[in-house]
Amino acid sequence: METKEKTECHHTSETEGGIWFNFSRRNFLTLAGWGLFFATLAGYLSQILGYKGFFYPKVLFEPSPRFTVGEPKSFPENSVTTLKSRKIFIVRDGNSFKAISVVCQHLGCAVEFSKEKNIFECPCHGSKYYRNGVNFAGPAPRPLNHFDVVLADNGKLVVDTSKVVPLATELVV
Ligand code: FES
Repeated sequence: METKEKTECHHTSETEGGIWFNFSRRNFLTLAGWGLFFATLAGYLSQILGYKGFFYPKVLFEPSPRFTVGEPKSFPENSVTTLKSRKIFIVRDGNSFKAISVVCQHLGCAVEFSKEKNIFECPCHGSKYYRNGVNFAGPAPRPLNHFDVVLADNGKLVVDTSKVVPLATELVV
């Protein structure tokens, strides 16, 4: 008689406690195991892909090295114009144009043009460059870089800082 009562109790469990009552210890451990597995997997994936790595393109947005600087007439004759945002000087002598880098060849500081002395000077360690970019004093081991400059079809000067050209190169317009 006692055995029969126990059996009845087991079979009526769904009506008493619903699905949770039937949730065995074995099921719980299986579910916990899967949960742990997925949590570990997610941790590894976030390490490999990085935060946002999966959803964001791994692209660096850098400005183009080729850009327009304006019409030749916008640069006065026999002048040196500093284009700070582009890190270049536009040097005009007569109708000859050169694009010279502001980056010092010693350790990369930005050199400045001295109108009074007509030379480029580096404020960091005292390197000096002639107006044509050739170094003559201080620790700089070589001349400033010169970049390609051309006259585009629309009559404007276009500089390409990805193309370093020989010092003697000039654009005559
Ligand atoms: S960085 Fe220009 S002299 Fe050192």
